[in-house]
Amino acid sequence: MKLPSLLLGLALIISPVPNLAAAMSDGTVVLFDGRTLGGWQNFGGGKFYVEDGVIVGESLPGYPNSFLATDKQYDNFELEVDFMIDPLINSGIQIRSGVHAETTATTRWGGRFKPDGSKDLRKVSWEKGRFWGYQVEIDPSEKCWTGSLYEEAGRGFLHAPASTAKVYRSGEWNRFRIVANGSRIQTWLNGVPVTDLQDDLTPTGYIALQLHGVAHFKEKIGQKVRWKNILLKKLTASAGDYSGRKDASQAELLELGSARYALACALCHQPGGLGVPSVYPPLVGSDWVDGPAERLAAKVTYGLTGPIVVNGSKYPGVPMPGFGAEGSYQWSSSEIAAVLTYVRQSWGNKAGTVEPALVERIREKLGPRGPLTVIELERIFPLNRESNSSDLSMLRKTVIAD
Ligand code: HEC
Repeated sequence: MKLPSLLLGLALIISPVPNLAAAMSDGTVVLFDGRTLGGWQNFGGGKFYVEDGVIVGESLPGYPNSFLATDKQYDNFELEVDFMIDPLINSGIQIRSGVHAETTATTRWGGRFKPDGSKDLRKVSWEKGRFWGYQVEIDPSEKCWTGSLYEEAGRGFLHAPASTAKVYRSGEWNRFRIVANGSRIQTWLNGVPVTDLQDDLTPTGYIALQLHGVAHFKEKIGQKVRWKNILLKKLTASAGDYSGRKDASQAELLELGSARYALACALCHQPGGLGVPSVYPPLVGSDWVDGPAERLAAKVTYGLTGPIVVNGSKYPGVPMPGFGAEGSYQWSSSEIAAVLTYVRQSWGNKAGTVEPALVERIREKLGPRGPLTVIELERIFPLNRESNSSDLSMLRKTVIAD
């Protein structure tokens, strides 16, 4: 008989979800039932409602930043959520968040640098009761810092935010995956890794959807942000998870490296690594890429300035930024190792993996410092004199002899 099972199926579809944070058999928690705001609480008073299976936040004049937060707190989890935002507002997903128990003073970084390369910091005091905590940024503006990690009503950006304009789908649904496990927080936008950070500010707290205040800016009134398919899977924290990254698998390094390359290197060295003649040197077939990993890692960590010879051509010395340097991108050693492993093993390059521990050793050896020149590299990491690389010998002749 087909009928009873059909009826049962219908009953399951129609019946209200009894426990709003419904737990599914595989441990997934459905945070939004698709019809009501049951299981959520509103901090700040902004306008949130459900329409066509979607949670909508709508900007109204005069409200402060408002947050639709879960009733429950979550510590270690994998969270997936679809979002779509109108272009003039900003939003974000809070994790491990709460309210300030006291008036709290912090130094906040808005993600920008001053002309001298230092962070543009500002001291701010947050009132008691203000909602605060980690926020995965949703930023549809031109700079597109969507997916970067920010601390709302706290320290501001927790790393140099990167543009995700290449993966963000403007005016369409986008999907976040957010993994918080121990002190490691990772984010993905539409499947592409964005942030991988170690920070241990708060081990647990609410998950919340942000509706940014718009004061009385007329053009922002009525702008909406929408969320759906909000699914959470609880994880058991693995102790020392971050240190686990130091022996990240080859596949993990390549996945992270490929994403980092697309976000940060492709702009100059081009998506296929061929560079731009006379300006940005190629990474394909370059002795600098295939050569000793220490020199390569030092250069990308601290940046490079002054002339260089690559594949027989001299480049005039447009400075390259340091990706691990203080006041710059501040990538972790794992991120630098990942991007270098990717570069060394793509487009026909066949050099070895760069281990995060090697980058770590270079940072210990060189400490905080500015960009390197080829001459300094040669002094700190002397080349094997027998090296038969034509580029390196030409380099000695042309650059070092200069
Ligand atoms: C703003 C442009 C820019 C960005 C972004 C950039 N580079 Fe470079 N890169 C340069 C320039 C310019 C040079 C040559 C510097 C010099 O002449 O001193 C260079 C040199 C290099 C070299 C040595 C020369 C060669 O071709 O082998 C490597 C390796 C390298 N970059 C890797 C990277 C990696 C990896 C990234 C991303 C993490 C990156 N670069 C991001 C501009 C850039």
